[in-house]
Amino acid sequence: MTKSRIILDKDFTLAALDRRIFGTFVEHLGRCVYEGIFEPDHPTADEHGFRKDVLDLVKELGPTIVRYPGGNFLSGYNWEDGVGPNRPKRLDLAWFSTETNLFGTNEFIQWCRLASVEPMLGVNLGTRGADEARKFLEYCNFAGGTALSDLRKEHGFPEPHGVKFWCLGNEMDGPWQICRKTAAEYGRIATETAKLMRWIDPSVELAACGSSARFLTTFGAWEHEVLQHTFEYADFLSIHLYFDNQFNDPKEFFASPDLMDLYIKEVISVCDGVAAERKSTKRMMLSFDEWNVWYKARGGRFSRQPNWPEAPHLLEEVYDLQDALVVGGALITLLNNADRVKAACLAQLVNVIGPIMTDKGGHAWRQTIFFPFSQVANLAKGTVLRPIVHSSKYETITAGEIAHVSASAVQRDEHELAVFILNRDLINPISMELDLRSFGQVEKIEAYELTGKDLLSTNTRDNPNAVRPMVNTTAAIEKFGVRIDLKTQSWNVIRIVLRGGG
Ligand code: AHR
Repeated sequence: MTKSRIILDKDFTLAALDRRIFGTFVEHLGRCVYEGIFEPDHPTADEHGFRKDVLDLVKELGPTIVRYPGGNFLSGYNWEDGVGPNRPKRLDLAWFSTETNLFGTNEFIQWCRLASVEPMLGVNLGTRGADEARKFLEYCNFAGGTALSDLRKEHGFPEPHGVKFWCLGNEMDGPWQICRKTAAEYGRIATETAKLMRWIDPSVELAACGSSARFLTTFGAWEHEVLQHTFEYADFLSIHLYFDNQFNDPKEFFASPDLMDLYIKEVISVCDGVAAERKSTKRMMLSFDEWNVWYKARGGRFSRQPNWPEAPHLLEEVYDLQDALVVGGALITLLNNADRVKAACLAQLVNVIGPIMTDKGGHAWRQTIFFPFSQVANLAKGTVLRPIVHSSKYETITAGEIAHVSASAVQRDEHELAVFILNRDLINPISMELDLRSFGQVEKIEAYELTGKDLLSTNTRDNPNAVRPMVNTTAAIEKFGVRIDLKTQSWNVIRIVLRGGG
């Protein structure tokens, strides 16, 4: 057993947590919408056609905001096709599927209200532009008395939807994108769109597209050029990242959260560089609106299916224990950048690289990655702390020398802390001291671990609970704080109640 120590102090604070970093994503892709959240013939479907079994799991997962309708799908989408009584079938060029449009914006908003999540909508800046975007916003958010706002009322929604968070397009730099743009083209269209949208509803929050991936040769230059146009108009720059297990080696794969951290810091540098060039005190915030592990079910748009199927099985990644540990590590990284990352979306929610899987007409179950996400989304609130971590280290090809222990902590309120720890050591368990210094005496501890001997274990329809968090009984109250044993290759959550707390 090796020793490790984390110091937390109430004066070492990072930022107030914006809980919109616990967002997810619903795209018209594969079976995310159809057979995912929406399946009118399912035995649990409600009067809207929403699967109640999925809705219950979504509530348990605890996302705060959900991005919709894409993704790549967004860049060819006509929002008008998804509202009102006429729902035309269309070819979806993003995923070579047929879109029935049976589910659209109003259904999504209704579903969000039932799931108690905030909607995050996107406007199509691929095949369309500023005019459609302003009309879409008017339809959604304008109270009434104009053709578009009255159309919403006619469609059964007398109250404006009040959608605050809007994405100005999706991954507009990607060669795979429908009507990809150069940075200059995108910068201009995003700026003009933002201008019109703010004139209609000054309360909207707008995210401009950053690079789709760090490996693109345009990364950095894209951000710089896009910000030349959008800096004064956007509140957020988006950032996307999917973790790959390229060396098929857990030691390397577990470095993914460090790469995510590096990527965030690089994007912040470009944003602040642009601010410096403009002598601006504005600090651009980041919307990490697509992130997840994704390397097994990489088919998707690259392996086009014949005959334009409806709701095909696409990107149905089956997650294992090591994927869940990486997702836990990524949540730690997001928390540790909470001063600049103010929104983030685990991509996606159901079936498509999702924490929830379903059978058509049958069961819904939790994938391994469900657990770290639900634990953090349900526990983290308040102030994010800056933990000082003393840990042994190891060398990786992926990210150089990294610590075996990665950790984040939040002060939930005056009497409660939550600490999240990833032990990436594959050989040695860790005896961990949590030095709580200025927080005073600990009254109560609850600790959970997600671990196992086989990093490739998965949850399936027939064995849905193979991987799940268990209570860690080793946590003990000490004068300095808490001592706890952390197993090898483990994700750990510790809730600490301080004296005077409940
Ligand atoms: O989440 C899957 C896809 O990944 C999204 O549609 C796209 O934005 C990204 O490339």
